[in-house]
Amino acid sequence: MEYFEELLKRPSIFKNESKLDINFVPNKLPHRDKELSLLSQLFLGLITNPNSISRKILITGKTGIGKTVTVKLFGELLEHASEKRNINIKYIHINCRKERTSYKVLMNIIQLLNKQFPKRGYSLQDLLDILIDLLNHQNLHVLIVLDELSYLINKREDLIYLLTRINDDSIKGDQRISIIGIVRDLSCLNNLDNSTMSTLQRNIIQFNKYSKDQIFDILKYRTEISLKENVLSDKIIEMISDITFDSGDIRYGLNILWRACKIAESKSLKYVSLECIRLANQDLLPFSALDILEYMTSQKLLFLIAIIKALYESDNSKISFTKALRIYYIICENMGLSPRSHSQIWNYLQEFKRESIVKVQIMSKGIKGRRTFIEIPDLSLSNLEKKIIETLNSKGFKI
Ligand SMILES: Nc1ncnc2c1ncn2[C@@H]1O[C@H](COP(=O)(O)OP(=O)(O)O)[C@@H](O)[C@H]1O
Ligand SMILES: [Mg+2]
Repeated sequence: MEYFEELLKRPSIFKNESKLDINFVPNKLPHRDKELSLLSQLFLGLITNPNSISRKILITGKTGIGKTVTVKLFGELLEHASEKRNINIKYIHINCRKERTSYKVLMNIIQLLNKQFPKRGYSLQDLLDILIDLLNHQNLHVLIVLDELSYLINKREDLIYLLTRINDDSIKGDQRISIIGIVRDLSCLNNLDNSTMSTLQRNIIQFNKYSKDQIFDILKYRTEISLKENVLSDKIIEMISDITFDSGDIRYGLNILWRACKIAESKSLKYVSLECIRLANQDLLPFSALDILEYMTSQKLLFLIAIIKALYESDNSKISFTKALRIYYIICENMGLSPRSHSQIWNYLQEFKRESIVKVQIMSKGIKGRRTFIEIPDLSLSNLEKKIIETLNSKGFKI
């Protein structure tokens, strides 16, 4: 009856689980130095000449490459640097996918500045005037980040128009609003009027996709701050980096990591094994591999079992074609079957590749010529093996 006590007694592999969360903002961002430094240069004037300039920046780039987290960290740095100098700057992050109308966005901003502000009874222009009054009254400059801005632009509402123009109207007055817009691609700007577009297009920061090595560094850093030591080997992080690189979305890698850790804990392991990663990744991928198995010939299934056995025996995530072949011959011999030809087996491998069951990598090894390596990154080996044995049994083969 001591369920909690039993669970709590288990040693955890996490040092700080929340730091693996996709919404956590780390205080370091490997490989976003350049972007952070550029943002600092662009906004330096807010600190050196308070309330005399307004910056409007647009950030663009694919999903999951750190646009949001970089801007959030930058916002913290900006607030911190201004606080130290007694300059009143506030950073406000708005996700336009959540606050879908201009009215809601503006209301949200105002309520952050004045918690008692009543919700109803204002026009958009009213709200804007109220915002400016509030800023003047509090002697405050706000950096408003409109994340996923395309959700507002597509509505053809005029918040972005109004916001980009506020400061133009008060040339002589103080500049109290700066804006960072974040969009996945620039085509959504086509819905804007020309002058708003040209205001925004003056300063565009393009975020590029991370390379495989960069993804490795990032995932490694995130595990260092969230997991205990020696829980995850570099080899496994490399494997997750490979999987993540396909989409380039770091969120995907963080998700696999977290799930794999949870699986390891549920198995009372002290470290995350390759199998945990495969299970975690399988859960994430809606995959039709099990259907494919139903229609495979027995010989093809036997070769797939040979690959799985070879992977089990290896402590590497990849095995050579030669090794799989050797195990296949042994299986055939044990079952009293005559093996298929080398070239037929090679064809099976190509089919597995097409069916996305395996990944195949050909590497040149100096004078020895080329070698073929096989990997099953996306599926749980044990589940796959179980299913193959079931299928073979149903065809009358005992293995
Ligand atoms: N350089 C980095 N270092 C650490 N974590 C990162 C880095 N880049 C991205 N991440 C993490 O990856 C995930 C996706 O980043 P996010 O900023 O949400 O991407 P985007 O806004 O471009 O879609 C987040 O959980 C973020 O914390
Ligand atoms: Mg984002």
